[in-house]
Amino acid sequence: MANIGVIGTGYVGLTTAVCFAELGHKVIGFDIDLSKIEVLSSGKSTIHELGMTELIVKNLANNNLTFRSNIETIAECEFIFLCVPTPQDADGSADLSYVIKATKNLSTLVKKDATLITKSTVPVNAWKEVVKALNRSDVAVVSNPEFLREGSAIADFFNPDRIVVGCASSEKAKQVSDLYKQPDVETIITDNSSAELIKYASNSFLAIKLSYVNEVAALCEVVGANAKDVLFGMGKDTRIGSRFLEPGPGWGGSCFPKDVRALRVTAEDNAISMSLLSAAIDSNEKTHRRIVDKAEKELGNSLIGKTICIWGLTFKANTDDLRESPSIAVIERLIGRGASVVAFDPVITNVDNKKIKIAKSIEESCTAADAILVLTEWEQFKKVNPNSVMDLVSNKVVIDSRNILDKNLWVNSGFNFVGNGWQ
Ligand code: UDX
Repeated sequence: MANIGVIGTGYVGLTTAVCFAELGHKVIGFDIDLSKIEVLSSGKSTIHELGMTELIVKNLANNNLTFRSNIETIAECEFIFLCVPTPQDADGSADLSYVIKATKNLSTLVKKDATLITKSTVPVNAWKEVVKALNRSDVAVVSNPEFLREGSAIADFFNPDRIVVGCASSEKAKQVSDLYKQPDVETIITDNSSAELIKYASNSFLAIKLSYVNEVAALCEVVGANAKDVLFGMGKDTRIGSRFLEPGPGWGGSCFPKDVRALRVTAEDNAISMSLLSAAIDSNEKTHRRIVDKAEKELGNSLIGKTICIWGLTFKANTDDLRESPSIAVIERLIGRGASVVAFDPVITNVDNKKIKIAKSIEESCTAADAILVLTEWEQFKKVNPNSVMDLVSNKVVIDSRNILDKNLWVNSGFNFVGNGWQ
């Protein structure tokens, strides 16, 4: 059992704090946001994540977990995880100011021979600035990137594909990886810079993979092939892997877009051409446009005065996150081409763009719609019986950009069904 401090209780920090407490460590979660500390200390989760509230309540009760706003108590901790935001700067690079500020605040408080661990997504060589800001030769700086996905963060913490730890001292690196109590999981012990780059390189590769998947889907549509089979066939090649091969309206969220742009800046700053990064971003925007083109084509090549029913606003299912959501990107283009939009999402009741009408139910969203457009792969949409909405819509067209609906079910109810990369 170790005494662990987690600085920042956002998505990554809260998951890290709660899961380490669940492993039996004594964990203090720190945040400057007092209201967040109050909510968390009352046993409520501040993020929409399956199983989070239960683990918070359990570990508050057994005293493995506490939440604090006064940083002084950090002196109790042997291991301190930095999980503060690294938002995107105007030029696309990652803003390190929160990381540096938090490190400076800690520098005089951290106990002798403690270990400071960066878990925030930081650009390569950021650890050097952390070492400088910390200015403590007795405190090791370890880079330990996370690979948590929203919607499955707790499962991802306890079932990682690998644990990555970077540090000049392999002994310190080992101590950090041991905290995860996952002896059977492959642990990659390397230097700080390599550990930092593994995160960006992985996320950017997945984004490039998805851009390619969506381009394959586009090609399948015009040559008459079936993207479901083509991608399935591709995924059987273990060099390619069967995961992250689902076509959609594009990739988004709080990580992929930001990380691809930040890696591009790092490459440019080092005069290295990583053209695939820009290509992936451009291709992703083309995918947004392709989904809108589909709707326009199905509705007589004009969206002017048409009402589009949207199913799904979040960037993917099982999260309430709208950050860089491909749904919003598609919707804004639909509106730009003259359509009005009525959207239903299981967890979203409000959006910034007031041109997007939010429906309280599936039925309300379908009423008088010229087409139904599925944009997020929520389980709820798979279960919709077309007969329950066929008298509500004014036109029986369903466009499934996530390929989650049962085509025969919809066709048998008289709907014109349009898949993504297959027909
Ligand atoms: C991602 C990484 O997966 C995770 O390892 C990292 O720690 C944080 O960033 P997340 O942002 O939660 O996680 O999203 P992810 O599940 O990776 O999905 C990213 C985007 O790709 C979403 O818009 C999703 O809908 C899309 N996607 C994913 C597809 O379109 N098809 C797929 O097959 C998989």
